[in-house]
Amino acid sequence: MELLISMLKGSKMSSESRKKISRSLSGEKNPNYKEGNRTIGNYPCPRCGNEMIREKRRRNIICRDCYNKERRENAKGEKIVKKEYYERNKEKIIPNQLERYNNKRVEIQEQRKDYRQKNREKIRQHQREYVKNKKSTNQNFVIQMRLRRLVLQAFDKYTKTGKVNPSIKYGIDYEKIIEHLKPFPKDMSKYHIDHIKPLCSFNFINEDGSTNLEEIKKAFAPENHQWLSAEENLSKNKSLTWEKEKDTTYSSIWLYRRKGTMYYGTKDPIANIKNYTQARGKYFSKFNDAVAENIINFWSNKNDIILDPFAGRTRCFVSALKERKYIGFEISKEVCNKIQPLIDSNKLEYKHKPLMINDDSLNVKSHLKKEVDFIFSCPPYWNLEKYESCPGQLSDIKDYNKFLDRYKKIMENSLSLLKKDKYCVLVVGDFRINKQYYTFHCDTIRIMEELGMKLHDLVVIQSVTFDIANRRFGLFKNWKFTSKIHEYLLVFKKV
Ligand SMILES: C[S@@+](CC[C@H](N)C(=O)[O-])C[C@H]1O[C@@H](n2cnc3c(N)ncnc32)[C@H](O)[C@@H]1O
Repeated sequence: MELLISMLKGSKMSSESRKKISRSLSGEKNPNYKEGNRTIGNYPCPRCGNEMIREKRRRNIICRDCYNKERRENAKGEKIVKKEYYERNKEKIIPNQLERYNNKRVEIQEQRKDYRQKNREKIRQHQREYVKNKKSTNQNFVIQMRLRRLVLQAFDKYTKTGKVNPSIKYGIDYEKIIEHLKPFPKDMSKYHIDHIKPLCSFNFINEDGSTNLEEIKKAFAPENHQWLSAEENLSKNKSLTWEKEKDTTYSSIWLYRRKGTMYYGTKDPIANIKNYTQARGKYFSKFNDAVAENIINFWSNKNDIILDPFAGRTRCFVSALKERKYIGFEISKEVCNKIQPLIDSNKLEYKHKPLMINDDSLNVKSHLKKEVDFIFSCPPYWNLEKYESCPGQLSDIKDYNKFLDRYKKIMENSLSLLKKDKYCVLVVGDFRINKQYYTFHCDTIRIMEELGMKLHDLVVIQSVTFDIANRRFGLFKNWKFTSKIHEYLLVFKKV
């Protein structure tokens, strides 16, 4: 014993530890030791007051329940701190996580697959309960589920493989979309989440087959989402527009039973344009935006300069949204005053801001010095529609032949600016005034051929609803006239 104590004295231990060991070896008592500290007995818990057994050597004298409660609260606090940290450093953490995941991808996937196979039923049950529970308590979760479904459907429809990566990879932020969609409608089951600019108008896949992240980001940007009543949304899908565009564009009859719905989202400024009509009297003239889009897609290219000698109110927006440089001549001050604030408001994202010139298109050459890539217009059908009366207004001309002379002069000036081998598309219709039938499309072909243009193609566009046609048909039956429900799309090429 003496020897052991002397060995301890020579060791490198702290003096306190040495003293402790030598005291226990020799049976000596610690001078600071008080008998009461070690007593084991029944005491009330200082925190909850319940009776507890005080345990040997425990300094925190609280009962087991209070102790566990405290631990749980601390863990919760830690979780909140961790979550806050994650939110703050999301941008750093996510790429790291992805990188780690990618490094061990195969291994992790194998493990997951294995686990899923072994516990299929258990997982399903758990998922069902989790979703049910969350759906009943969390509105944001319900909307996020809807948004996810929309993304999955879009990829299934508009990509070749239908494969979807995590939304974060595409820059889709569900939380921001949900924020944008607030306030939610009271009865959400009667509303759909609608994409203002339809998803089919975006190119998710580049020509080389790679994913076009920019387009995906734009398609799923918060601003492109809105609530639309289910009824309105479903009726929209019934019309022949973008979705069916490919089916009808390549045939010589374009069937449009309804007006285009492309820009008819309630948050879209073009939706309001339908209230802006330059036509006087009972006729309202609005160019079908779906037709305009088909024409622009078919006979022009991105970044092309488009000249429109009879601008009206629709083609400028469609052209700009299709990334063309649009220059429109419109003689009516009233029309220009209504269109210009919409162009300036920048509510729609334009690559090239459209240009509206408030002048007689007879003067086109004094405004433009550059050649243009495409001429696209819809001239007045003589005085079938009455536009704002002003000097130079074609619909003011009393005589049909004088109208044709002036129309020819305008087309001559415009065509002198068209590049060789490029196209000029005119949408025209025949009409009947006082039971006299005017073959305006034939006159247009004649005039254009006299100006050296070659008729390249002709398409018939069904332009009004069958409903209206049927009503008119009843009216015309007695006079043995068929009711006109079509217009002509005349395509000329500069040779
Ligand atoms: C058939 S409308 C175009 C309407 C077209 N359907 C639309 O809304 O898109 C023809 C337009 O040409 C305009 N116009 C008539 N004579 C013109 C001229 N000499 N120069 C420029 N614009 C003219 C009229 O004011 C009218 O707005």
